[in-house]
Amino acid sequence: MAKSEVKTSLLDNMIGVGDSVLLEPLTEHTFLENLKKRFDHSEIYTYIGSVVISVNPYRHLPIYTPEKVEEYRNRNFYELSPHIYALADEAYRSLRDQDKDQCILITGESGAGKTEASKLVMSYVAAVCGKGAEVNQVKEQLLQSNPVLEAFGNAKTMRNDNSSRFGKYMDIEFDFKGDPLGGVISNYLLEKSRVVKQPRDERNFHIFYQLLSGGSEDLLKRLKLERDFKQYNYLGLDSAEVNGMDDAANFRTVKNAMQIVGFMDDEAESVLEVVAAVLKLGNIEFKPESRVNGLDESRIQDKNELKEICELLGQDQAVLERAFSFRTVEAKQEKVSTTLNVAQAYYARDALAKNLYNRLFTWLVNRINESIKAQTKVRKKVMGVLDIYGFEIFENNSFEQFIINYCNEKLQQIFIELTLKEEQEEYIKEGIEWTHIEYFNNAIICELIENNTNGILAMLDEECLRPGTVTDETFLEKLNQVCAIHERFESRMSKSSRFLNDTTLPHNCFRIQHYAGKVMYHVEGFVDKNNDLLYRDLSQAMWKTNHMLVKALFPEGNPAKMSLKRPPTAGSQFKASVTTLMKNLQTKNPNYIRCIKPNDQKAPHAFTEALVCHQVRYLGLMENVRVRRAGYAFKQPYESCLERYKMLCSQTWPHWRQGTRDGVKVLLTELRIPAEEFSYGRSKIFIRNPRTLFELEDLRKRRLEDLATLIQKIYRGWKCRTNFLLLKKSQTTISAWTRRHFQRKKYLHLKSVTVLIQSYIRGWKARKLLRELKHQKRCEESATTIAAYWRGTQARRELKRLKEEARRKHAVAVIWAYWLGLKVRREYRKFFRANAGRKIYEFTIQRIMQKYFLELKKKLPSQSPTERTWPARPYLFLDNTHTELKRIFHLWRCKEYRDQFTEQKTAIFEEKLEASELFKDKKALYTNSVRQPFHGDYLEISKNPKYQKLNGAVEEKIVLADVVNKINRANGKRALRIFVLTKSKFIIADQKSGQIKSTIPVMDITSVSVSKQTDGLFAIHLKEGSTAAAKGDFLFTSDRLIEIITKLYRTIFFKTNQKINVEINNEFLVQFNQDKVCVKFIQGAQKNGNLPACKRKNNRLLEVTVP
Ligand SMILES: Nc1ncnc2c1ncn2[C@@H]1O[C@H](COP(=O)(O)OP(=O)(O)OP(=O)(O)O)[C@@H](O)[C@H]1O
Ligand SMILES: [Mg+2]
Repeated sequence: MAKSEVKTSLLDNMIGVGDSVLLEPLTEHTFLENLKKRFDHSEIYTYIGSVVISVNPYRHLPIYTPEKVEEYRNRNFYELSPHIYALADEAYRSLRDQDKDQCILITGESGAGKTEASKLVMSYVAAVCGKGAEVNQVKEQLLQSNPVLEAFGNAKTMRNDNSSRFGKYMDIEFDFKGDPLGGVISNYLLEKSRVVKQPRDERNFHIFYQLLSGGSEDLLKRLKLERDFKQYNYLGLDSAEVNGMDDAANFRTVKNAMQIVGFMDDEAESVLEVVAAVLKLGNIEFKPESRVNGLDESRIQDKNELKEICELLGQDQAVLERAFSFRTVEAKQEKVSTTLNVAQAYYARDALAKNLYNRLFTWLVNRINESIKAQTKVRKKVMGVLDIYGFEIFENNSFEQFIINYCNEKLQQIFIELTLKEEQEEYIKEGIEWTHIEYFNNAIICELIENNTNGILAMLDEECLRPGTVTDETFLEKLNQVCAIHERFESRMSKSSRFLNDTTLPHNCFRIQHYAGKVMYHVEGFVDKNNDLLYRDLSQAMWKTNHMLVKALFPEGNPAKMSLKRPPTAGSQFKASVTTLMKNLQTKNPNYIRCIKPNDQKAPHAFTEALVCHQVRYLGLMENVRVRRAGYAFKQPYESCLERYKMLCSQTWPHWRQGTRDGVKVLLTELRIPAEEFSYGRSKIFIRNPRTLFELEDLRKRRLEDLATLIQKIYRGWKCRTNFLLLKKSQTTISAWTRRHFQRKKYLHLKSVTVLIQSYIRGWKARKLLRELKHQKRCEESATTIAAYWRGTQARRELKRLKEEARRKHAVAVIWAYWLGLKVRREYRKFFRANAGRKIYEFTIQRIMQKYFLELKKKLPSQSPTERTWPARPYLFLDNTHTELKRIFHLWRCKEYRDQFTEQKTAIFEEKLEASELFKDKKALYTNSVRQPFHGDYLEISKNPKYQKLNGAVEEKIVLADVVNKINRANGKRALRIFVLTKSKFIIADQKSGQIKSTIPVMDITSVSVSKQTDGLFAIHLKEGSTAAAKGDFLFTSDRLIEIITKLYRTIFFKTNQKINVEINNEFLVQFNQDKVCVKFIQGAQKNGNLPACKRKNNRLLEVTVP
């Protein structure tokens, strides 16, 4: 639906009056009538100015649909019929548009609908604020925190099936656009006594029932629980089932909500483990036991439950059992351990259960806060929603009700402060004509409770901290002394005689006249609850568990952090947090929702007038209406008013240079607003009717639209102009650049053309000049040439002439010679012989030969036999002669060379020649020997005195004497021996002493064997049967093998005229004694330089390793 089509108003189809300010006449009766009439027509919301009164319908009304949200979205507060959405929208918009932090204060007694109202506000704000995946997640987490906290913090009471048993203040944080960023929840004093005991017809906290009804079999098994409520002492059985409440379904909702809020699966499981442990703690029973010394002791009756609790919490059973049986008191480094009697043991058990649950609840709030806290650090705007437990009057009111009601007093106080007192005071301060309206100020009751010196809380604390016996009775006595004279305090025992006979007031009670009625409090339990004592043994036992969550819940159990200081009392803690809350609320713009409970039966359609009347009275609603009616709906400092509306008047727009008050006057006069609609205060303008304000707002809105159009227009104009100027500038620049470009191109073209033409002209001129110069030069050259030619012609002519002359002269001479010859031949013919031609031929040949020899003689090469050159042949017919001469000359040259040799040298050469014939190209060692001269007698035995004896034995001329290695026939080992060869024998002698070992005639030698390699091993084969051959053939090695064998060979030849066989092979046979042994040469690494290594392998084989 388009917004403009909705023409509804507060006044349209109005049932009674939507705003009580409009009531005529205004009496308590008409006020109640109006509420009732509206209530009967399902109109549960009514305004008092900007305050919303909400009457609990106790049934579902179709007024919270998404369509309704859309209807109220961005609409003025009074534009539509009263609704909680209108208030939520107003608060959200002024937070978003005017940057004012808001708080929504929801008050009313228990069951009046505060929690519902707070959820409605939150869901409305969530629906209208920004959208997007991230924002939606934040919203969802904020909304889903409710089911979790309600499950753990709400319970069924006599007055309300879903009563909040804790106070909750939630700050929702927004960014400048109005998108939610996150939130912070503060919780106030959970009614933990409910964990262990509930009044008749009431239940424990929802979660216990939800877990047992909704938990799967598997989960219950894990938590060691049974589904039956009756199994658990802590669950009041009177009203375990609540009508219209499906615990199982709610359990699923809670689990789902925990998941959305961000609890890990194991965290959720841990939480349920603690819940289960609390439940099971209630089943631990103690029985008395007396000790010999007369002290009472207690013992756990059935340890099974304890065992299961310990298993759940990862606890050592003995530790917990001990903590239930003993109490250690520590004072000034002294530890005293006393046993607990049965009552004390039960007290300890309950204290543990309450503490465990209470701490778990606080942990849950902190954990949720961690999830929902804003992720950014940008400046935030805040909307606080306060939903605190409502005012309570029970049959038996205890410490908790006292605290709850104190809190409600404080809220009433802040309401009075901000709506009644401050407003009226402001009118007077601003000089507005005003008749004071009476109202009840509850400051006196707050004072009675919270006064630091003699307030009830201060008395209680004093009593708790006092040494000596402290009981609830001593506390009451103290109250009776201190507060007896207070007009709002009633007690039977007080000194004032007023209540001495009041039988409705028992002796152990005191009564306070609260703003909402008289409440009688039983003092029993006040001291304990205020002390909130948990035996240190228990907290230490809890800290010792393996359960991470439980361990974290009891940090004071850590012995390292133990302190002897008493923790602050519950009362003082609560007072401090309420004071902080009040301060916080005062900094924000308040929005009130005042909830009213229409009947005590939680029934729909029932409107108990007396009950409502009572609430209307104590809530001070009548006074509220009166102040509103007499007063002004709206006030604002002149500056802000002028600032906000100055655009509505031509004189004040855009600037007003004079005083702001005058500005506002001019503004309102020009707008023709009736004078009775406003008053001018000292610093503020007061507007009587909200309608006037809305008119102003409407005008402003329209004007803003015009202004926006104007700004748009100017901006568009500016933008277009800027754009145009930019385009123009660009166009100029582009055209300038284009022109420049074309001019430059043209210029460059002209330049190049000019240069071209210039160069052509210059070229042409140059060529012309060149031509001229060339012509000139050619002319000059032509002259020279012509002259030269001419001179040449002259010269040739002269030459020709001279040649002709010479030829003629020669011809004359030839002719003359021929003539003479002819004459001579004619004269001498008779003297010539017939064979003169042959003689001339021979003579010519002779001459030629003569000339050839003479020439050859001159060109003969050197005398060296190695010279290879020979002069070239001059005549072809001398070819053979020439070759023959070359051969002869070479032979002659060699002969000449040989003729120079002495006899000795000749012998050496012969030996060398012999060696060459024997070994060249056959044995590799030969090449090395060519350059070595054959000395023969290397030992010079005749001169060496060492060999004197040997020398004596030799007799003959020594052909060769040298040291050789003789190879042992048996093992192939070497031994140094002197080898002496004479013309007829060879001798083997000891190398050191010269002692002759063998003498062998050369005639006995049949052959010699050597290898083809570079080794020096040789075998001398002896004639079979000769005396020398008794031991067999000899094997020697020597570097001078070539020389030795050559000399041996020649000696034998000279002696016997026979040539012995020299076998050159890598494998040959030798005769050792009777054996024929094969000497085999193999290639291998050498150990002793060049010496061959011999090894007798077996009878038939001697292996020689050669390099
Ligand atoms: N606007 C509403 N529409 C329908 N039912 C409502 C509405 N407001 C309250 N109720 C009903 O009244 C019951 C009690 O309301 P609620 O829990 O909000 O009271 P409360 O003021 O928070 O009480 P307490 O102080 O005990 O927490 C709700 O459970 C619901 O059934
Ligand atoms: Mg509630």
